[in-house]
Amino acid sequence: MKDFVEIPFQIIDSTNTWAHQNLDQLEPNKVTCVIAEEQTKGRGRELREWVSPPGNVYCTFCFQLAKDTRNVPSVAQVIGYSAALVLQKYKLYPQIKWPNDVLIDGKKIAGILCETIFNKDHVQVLLGIGLNVNLEQTVIDEIDQPATSMSLELGKSFSVEEIYVELREQFLKDLETFKKNNFSPFQTPIQSMLAYKGQEIELTRGKEIISGICHSVSCAGELNIELDSGEMKTISSGEILFLE
Ligand code: BTN
Repeated sequence: MKDFVEIPFQIIDSTNTWAHQNLDQLEPNKVTCVIAEEQTKGRGRELREWVSPPGNVYCTFCFQLAKDTRNVPSVAQVIGYSAALVLQKYKLYPQIKWPNDVLIDGKKIAGILCETIFNKDHVQVLLGIGLNVNLEQTVIDEIDQPATSMSLELGKSFSVEEIYVELREQFLKDLETFKKNNFSPFQTPIQSMLAYKGQEIELTRGKEIISGICHSVSCAGELNIELDSGEMKTISSGEILFLE
């Protein structure tokens, strides 16, 4: 893989934080993946912690997008989709909780943290993903969101290296598609995995709470919600609250 660089760590605070602090080490025309076996300060969205003991995938893909790329944040949904395809190979039925949490049976199995730095001539993307491969129930019990792992769902443990390689291969392919055609090739497949479709949801956006029926994903990666008034509202950012 001539356009790919891997920076592995046994233990690190956070692969996203490392990438931020070492931007000058990233080769502009290559995809760099910072990967760790364990994180001591794994970060989630909304300043949450991402519990990161050994046995799971923790990595951050770092790459540049052209300055005129449309729908930059939707690239985070693309890696959620890549992870969902890997899980399908193991006969799991992943759903995507918009924008990019991957769920199995309503419980989170993968989370994504997308950080972007807009420069004069390009956008630097630091796209972190945590995929629960062998996370144990005792650890999950301490997480404040419903969560699961491949081992809990399938009743056996898995090689983290193997899962990581499958995720990397799938994502590098999907990233090429995104660079060429933007989000639209992903609209239909992601919509077919959309969690809560047709159900009443509450979405937080800053201090605002929007409620309505989860309807569909637009060709730009936004979420269409049907409000109680019948009006369709298109949302480009926010977080859906978990349903019981
Ligand atoms: C979320 O669902 O809130 C996002 C979780 C993102 C976790 C991954 S693990 C690898 C990378 N490094 C981090 O510190 N966070 C992301």
